[in-house]
Amino acid sequence: MSGRFDGRVVAVTGAAAGLGRATARRLADEGAVVACIDIDLEGVEGVAKELNQGGRRARAYHCDVSDPTAVQETFAALTTDLGGLHALCNVAGIGMFSHTTEVRYEDWSRIIAVNLTGPFLTCQAAIPHLVRVKGNIVNVASDGGTKGLPFAAPYSASKGGLVMLTKSLAVELMPMGIRVNAVSPGGMQTEMTAGWRFPPDAPSELLARFITPFGVAAPEDVASVIAFVASDEACRLTGAVIAADGGTTA
Ligand SMILES: NC(=O)c1ccc[n+]([C@@H]2O[C@H](COP(=O)([O-])OP(=O)(O)OC[C@H]3O[C@@H](n4cnc5c(N)ncnc54)[C@H](O)[C@@H]3O)[C@@H](O)[C@H]2O)c1
Repeated sequence: MSGRFDGRVVAVTGAAAGLGRATARRLADEGAVVACIDIDLEGVEGVAKELNQGGRRARAYHCDVSDPTAVQETFAALTTDLGGLHALCNVAGIGMFSHTTEVRYEDWSRIIAVNLTGPFLTCQAAIPHLVRVKGNIVNVASDGGTKGLPFAAPYSASKGGLVMLTKSLAVELMPMGIRVNAVSPGGMQTEMTAGWRFPPDAPSELLARFITPFGVAAPEDVASVIAFVASDEACRLTGAVIAADGGTTA
């Protein structure tokens, strides 16, 4: 690997599983010191341990990204422990499939809290540190944030909001030299999708919106896009929403 992140500290939320874990591994392979953040303490400690044993550098942080106090404390701790922050990758996310009429208020609220409020809070906590180094932010959206997906109204709404959070911050932070972008995957083979089920009566012609001839992605194939966007090679990229969805939004 080229060492694009040598000497840099990168925070990755959702690092215990799926795309967050693949991103933490990729960034660490390329020289980053990775702050691995997750609500799953055991899982994220396992990922940090794996990285450190492999000669890479990482540290685990237990945090619910929807909790404002926990987010402030986590970013204060990691910037002290690791000596600053050069990039933030907001990967943590949750979702479900359901007829909209059957979504419980608690499910709507939790999905918005984790997928939209969470990145807002982590950006708030990270920006004062990113300003010092002209750092950058990568938010993980979804093809469901740029096109309608059936049976996923809370999830799609949260990701559509994240796309606009990305664009708003990109404009606001331009004068400070901070880049803010989104990477927007389609279907990936992760712990998240292993647990999702369509409503049994879902019409197959609607489910076609999830499918691409490229098939379901491996998280590593999207982590490489995140790493590119977070690297200096993407220095002209800000306010962009990069579709890494195998063409589902083409
Ligand atoms: N898997 C897909 O098909 C797919 C498609 C498009 C977009 N995405 C997005 O990619 C991102 C990663 O998804 P994934 O498939 O790897 O999911 P995953 O469930 O495999 O991993 C998500 C991680 O986020 C953590 N997490 C959940 N809630 C949290 C919270 N409140 N605070 C901190 N950490 C929390 C989980 O513990 C887990 O480790 C998500 O934002 C998801 O919406 C996934």
